[in-house]
Amino acid sequence: MKLNRNTVFDCSIIDISKVQNEVGNITVVENGINIPFDVKRVYYLYDIPGGEARGGHAHYELEQYVIAASGSLDVILDDGKNRKIVTLNRPNFALHIVPGLWRELDNFSSGSITLVLASLEYDEKDYIRNYDQFLEFKK
Ligand code: TYD
Repeated sequence: MKLNRNTVFDCSIIDISKVQNEVGNITVVENGINIPFDVKRVYYLYDIPGGEARGGHAHYELEQYVIAASGSLDVILDDGKNRKIVTLNRPNFALHIVPGLWRELDNFSSGSITLVLASLEYDEKDYIRNYDQFLEFKK
């Protein structure tokens, strides 16, 4: 399947299991077990000033799991035709973002920490940072 054909409906919320007991919870993500790609890179967003948005780009190849490790945020997904807003507010749920979609992250709660598990190493060449260029890619 050509990656530029991916739509917002190819993204899903994954319920990651949690190990729960009286001393707290652990949620585990393991390559080959409960994530559909191998994790090559992990990063996290924190100290986001109130009212700020992040993202505002698409990726040609990169797949991601986005997890509200603490607090909450909204992820706006856009495939050029459809838009979907997903609220993340539980550390045991991941939003799987497939390649070829425009995304914005906003409405971060104060003190939130957003964990991102990525299928590729950082590569600026994998980014589409211009929305018109993104629409051209989706044609
Ligand atoms: P960017 O991906 O544009 O952040 P966001 O989508 O959250 O707004 O990255 C912001 C800056 O950080 C940019 O200069 C590139 C740098 N960066 C890295 O060096 N390595 C990484 O793994 C990531 C995600 C970003």
